[in-house]
Amino acid sequence: MKHLLNAKDLTKDEVLLLLDTAEAMAATQDRQMKKLPVLRGKTVVNLFFEDSTRTRISFEAAAKRLSADVINFSAKGSSVSKGESLKDTAQTLDAMGIDGVVIRHSASGAPHRLASTDWIDVPILNAGDGTHQHPTQALLDAFTMRRHLTGAKDGSPAADGTDLSGNHVVIVGDVLHSRVARSNVELLQTLGATVTLVAPPTLLPVGVENWGAKVSYDLDAAIAEEPDAVMMLRVQRERMSAAGGGFFPSPLEYHRVYGLDRVRMNALPEHAIIMHPGPMNRGLEISSEAADSPRSTILEQVTNGVSIRMAALYLLLAGDKESLS
Ligand code: CP
Repeated sequence: MKHLLNAKDLTKDEVLLLLDTAEAMAATQDRQMKKLPVLRGKTVVNLFFEDSTRTRISFEAAAKRLSADVINFSAKGSSVSKGESLKDTAQTLDAMGIDGVVIRHSASGAPHRLASTDWIDVPILNAGDGTHQHPTQALLDAFTMRRHLTGAKDGSPAADGTDLSGNHVVIVGDVLHSRVARSNVELLQTLGATVTLVAPPTLLPVGVENWGAKVSYDLDAAIAEEPDAVMMLRVQRERMSAAGGGFFPSPLEYHRVYGLDRVRMNALPEHAIIMHPGPMNRGLEISSEAADSPRSTILEQVTNGVSIRMAALYLLLAGDKESLS
């Protein structure tokens, strides 16, 4: 594994290595001294061409907890606003001597472009590209599911090597614009879970029938199948208005048909968890009652994101792997 670009590129063994390493990282994070020396002397650049709260901050926290130096680059306020290209930006960073790049970009394929050229020769970690991929989100979601749906099933650490066989995950909402949905469908299938995608026809991409997931327009019917986890997707209104709108009649109507409200939450099996990658549109795809309920793992997903990103940075950037204990 030289780069982390795409959930589909990962073999099951690689996914399990990432999840098990993240468990080892998480075990170090309850200590008073959270820092590990494993990336001392390395420099990681966070190259963010698109807004982010969770991913940017957790990659920064992860790199710092591994003792790396972190350079945060935001396209806003940089020479990108003067027209500087991705190539020139990458080569400028390379000239400063860096060891890894975390990139988020609105253009699908931008991280792959960086990884496939000679502009920069360091590991590239995809932090979300357009509507294409968000592999570390899928990994942190799988990590969270493994903790809740296997073993003690109470959110405590999962046993090494555990997959998600036999579990059924329902992913609901704006699949069309969601890199989270794409990455999750791929990774969940690698781990042996079955997936149902639920969305209005206007929010399903062309070719979704080839993703290997069941597709439904009916959220209540999907809930009646007693899934183990339901993942609500953010309605990406910024991408919809850029496309001229018209994807659903009104926010009220969307919430009525596809929102996770109290009634639907109570119809879920008792053990089922409620997930959302954030940021949430409360009252649209998810009600506050569901988002803030004891079965919601939304904030745990954020916590687990730091462990997953520590694992990814460690496995890609550390030369000789040291003991994590
Ligand atoms: N889930 C996620 O990618 O959130 P951010 O956009 O805040 O990073």
